[in-house]
Amino acid sequence: MKLDVQPRIYIAGHNGMVGSAIVRHLISRGIDAQYIITRNREELDLTSQSDVRNFFEATKPDQVYLAAAKVGGIHANNTWPADFIYDNLMIEANVIESAFRSGVKKLLFLGSSCIYPRLAAQPMTESALLTGPLEPTNEPYAIAKIAGIKLCESYNRQYGHSHGIDYRSVMPTNLFGPGDNYHPENSHVLPALIGRFHKAKVEQLPTVTLWGTGQAKREFLYVDDMASASVHVMNFSADLYAQNTSPMQSHINVGSGSDISITDVAQLIQKIVGYQGHIVYDTSKPDGAPRKWMDSEKLQRLGWRPAFSLLEGLQMAYDDFLKHPTLRNK
Ligand SMILES: NC(=O)c1ccc[n+]([C@@H]2O[C@H](COP(=O)([O-])OP(=O)(O)OC[C@H]3O[C@@H](n4cnc5c(N)ncnc54)[C@H](OP(=O)(O)O)[C@@H]3O)[C@@H](O)[C@H]2O)c1
Repeated sequence: MKLDVQPRIYIAGHNGMVGSAIVRHLISRGIDAQYIITRNREELDLTSQSDVRNFFEATKPDQVYLAAAKVGGIHANNTWPADFIYDNLMIEANVIESAFRSGVKKLLFLGSSCIYPRLAAQPMTESALLTGPLEPTNEPYAIAKIAGIKLCESYNRQYGHSHGIDYRSVMPTNLFGPGDNYHPENSHVLPALIGRFHKAKVEQLPTVTLWGTGQAKREFLYVDDMASASVHVMNFSADLYAQNTSPMQSHINVGSGSDISITDVAQLIQKIVGYQGHIVYDTSKPDGAPRKWMDSEKLQRLGWRPAFSLLEGLQMAYDDFLKHPTLRNK
């Protein structure tokens, strides 16, 4: 029997952008670092069923934040579709099953807004899940993320009463901030833009080229806000969770509440970086979906709001980018 009063919390993916923000957030809320359990990939490959099972049996955490995943932009998803579906399915299945077997009562799974159909009505509500075809470029990743939600729900439905487990899911919008991936080809749109404007400033390039028309709209959330939302959803009461979800539709959207065009966000980044050149458009490249915006009304009703504006978040992200020279060459 454990004598600890504080729960022992395992953060899967603690070196990643979101996992590291969750660690920061928990520590800022007064959780003693000795109660936070982490393993890097060399110590524990989450795609290995036996290693994950042994880890959970040996450490027996009380809570799990599942923020480990194979993550990337369109190019990476298109180039390595097998890795995106296999790694993510294995990580989720191994962690959720081993957590259950070792007695973990509370787990939070991080999904993604790409679980929603390509043509879902905007803003996308939680009920849009499984109502239409997915975006083909990241379908394997999205299918794995949907499987993660359904794993949590199925374990709750089968074992919730008998074992007192409560496994929840959150679906983040596009995230950015410290620890982001700035690879010129494999990164998401916002870090890619930060990297390109910075390079253009340093090399005094006359123009920065944006793909598409710049009119597509996207939603962005600063990663520390995502961390606070994750901890919020993990900790509100089971009654409140049950009142606001259903056993087979239990995921909760996490977004900033508003979206912005690619041109407008590029201009904000241009200003923050201090780039004096011009933005031009390569309209031979696709815009992607005209709009991707999550309905986060449910989470707001449950008492969470983001703390940082997009401008504040972008400034902090760029400050962090400048502090870590190796990021710029990844
Ligand atoms: N970034 C976004 O915009 C965004 C948007 C929506 C949802 N999400 C979701 O949020 C979660 C976290 O994303 P992120 O942006 O923090 O990603 P990230 O920075 O790439 O971090 C992912 C972490 O998972 C670890 N990992 C991957 N495969 C592993 C394996 N086989 N064994 C052990 N560890 C492994 C990575 O370890 P290494 O450090 O060793 O690679 C890394 O620390 C993911 O579930 C993602 O789908 C992210």
